[in-house]
Amino acid sequence: MKINSNYELLLREEEIKKRISELGEIITKDYRDKNLLLVSVLKGSFIFMSDLSRSIDLDLKIDFMSVSSYIGTESTGVVRILFDLSLPVTDFDILLVEDILDSGRTLKYIVSILKDRNPRSVEICTLLDKPTRRVADVDAKYIGFSIPDEFVVGYGLDYNEKYRNLNDIVILKP
Ligand code: IMP
Ligand code: MG
Repeated sequence: MKINSNYELLLREEEIKKRISELGEIITKDYRDKNLLLVSVLKGSFIFMSDLSRSIDLDLKIDFMSVSSYIGTESTGVVRILFDLSLPVTDFDILLVEDILDSGRTLKYIVSILKDRNPRSVEICTLLDKPTRRVADVDAKYIGFSIPDEFVVGYGLDYNEKYRNLNDIVILKP
């Protein structure tokens, strides 16, 4: 048993896999004539990045960055860079790969610092979107699933660093 807490199944592994291969096909078409750099925002998107990157049939590059914005389940609104990209981005079309778009504060901040480095373009691909929670003005071009305002874990998403290794995405119950 990988989880010893109350939970409710939201998205099964097979559903997630199917949706990611659809996203991969769309991104492959859209970025055919571009210079794609996938940027994963750690840690939550590490599994999504792994599956999404392999579903894109293009000669692409991958980089990682990490920011911290949450303590427990609550948004502090504070976004701090824990570590930065290893590649210069000027020649690239950046696609940010995120686990979940919630208030949007984190991604709004990341998009603005990346745009300051003058890449060819910056777009967002998020596996999950909680549209009713949006505070910051940010739009994802690619969305895996729109979900209700519930705290979810699994498939990379954590609660206090736990449950990232669940195959499914589940709603954590108090
Ligand atoms: P935002 O700045 O509010 O959009 O926060 C996005 C980040 O908050 C995500 O990258 C996650 O790390 C975290 N987060 C938001 N909602 C959840 C959730 O339901 N489960 C786990 N992490 C979440
Ligand atoms: Mg995250």
